[in-house]
Amino acid sequence: MRLSWLLSLPAVLSVVSALAIEKRDADFFSVRTTMHKDMSGKRGDPKGKYFRESAPPKSVAFHPHYDGRFAETQLGYRERKQALSNLIQTYLATFADIGVETWLMHGTLLGWWWNRKILPWDSDSDVQVSESSMHYLASYYNMSVFHYKTPRIPDGRDYMLEVNPHYVNREQSDKLNVIDARWVDVTSGLFIDITTARYNHTHPAGAGMLSCKDGHEYRDTYIFPLRETFFEGTPAKIPFAYKEVLEAEYHAKALTLTEYEGHRFDEEKLEWIPIPKKEDDKPN
Ligand SMILES: *[C@@H]1O[C@H](CO)[C@@H](O)[C@H](O)[C@H]1NC(C)=O
Ligand SMILES: *[C@@H]1O[C@H](CO)[C@@H](O)[C@H](O)[C@H]1NC(C)=O
Repeated sequence: MRLSWLLSLPAVLSVVSALAIEKRDADFFSVRTTMHKDMSGKRGDPKGKYFRESAPPKSVAFHPHYDGRFAETQLGYRERKQALSNLIQTYLATFADIGVETWLMHGTLLGWWWNRKILPWDSDSDVQVSESSMHYLASYYNMSVFHYKTPRIPDGRDYMLEVNPHYVNREQSDKLNVIDARWVDVTSGLFIDITTARYNHTHPAGAGMLSCKDGHEYRDTYIFPLRETFFEGTPAKIPFAYKEVLEAEYHAKALTLTEYEGHRFDEEKLEWIPIPKKEDDKPN
């Protein structure tokens, strides 16, 4: 079955209108765009782990932030930046379209803090959803593929939503399956991790505590009501007390330090610019 619809976003946002075609219940092989060796290194993964990354120490693996079923190489700096931007734009647009509330978290929220963009040294993005949203995604959208063709993605690209069957386990006991779902760019293998913030009914701090399987916990008044904003030029949502959430995770310094990971924040351009290495300084 194929459904198609028009996604309209305000033209001023550079995101443009996107034609999305959804194919339901795709299997891995029908969405693979190129046939090659499986680089997931799955054979070396611990038994019981659902999501496969191309992570060391396996011999064929190359990077933990690529899905080895779809990729065999890392992208260059600029290509990766563009792919990650397309990834979060298509994710946010799709979730808005299917009516699932989602918000930015972790390094993605930190990128938002600085300039409403992905930190250029990051190779993944992090978002959260509520427990009822995760049930809904698992029930209706697992393995759905969304096709986007936009001026920024002129050749068109498929993105797949995949829900970990272990999402039903609410406990923090299964360390191999802390990621409940992923939004995967099946061309590059890059993905967004989607985790669930669940109400923790046994939390010692009492009612209103949200826990994630990766061990993060938040009082719900820090997250809700979500604030509406923009990220990578696309409408997005962030936690209500975003500053406190960021400070708790990264310390206050991360919100002011303008040199990090080989980049310097240019206050005029509002961009993280790579600090040139010594040899790059010399004219050719
Ligand atoms: C999603 O689909 C995949 C592939 O069929 C399957 O392995 C997985 O268990 C499904 N997830 C859920 C939550 O049902
Ligand atoms: C609830 O919170 C406690 C204390 O942080 C934690 O040990 C427990 O795993 C949490 N439960 C869930 C379901 O996340």
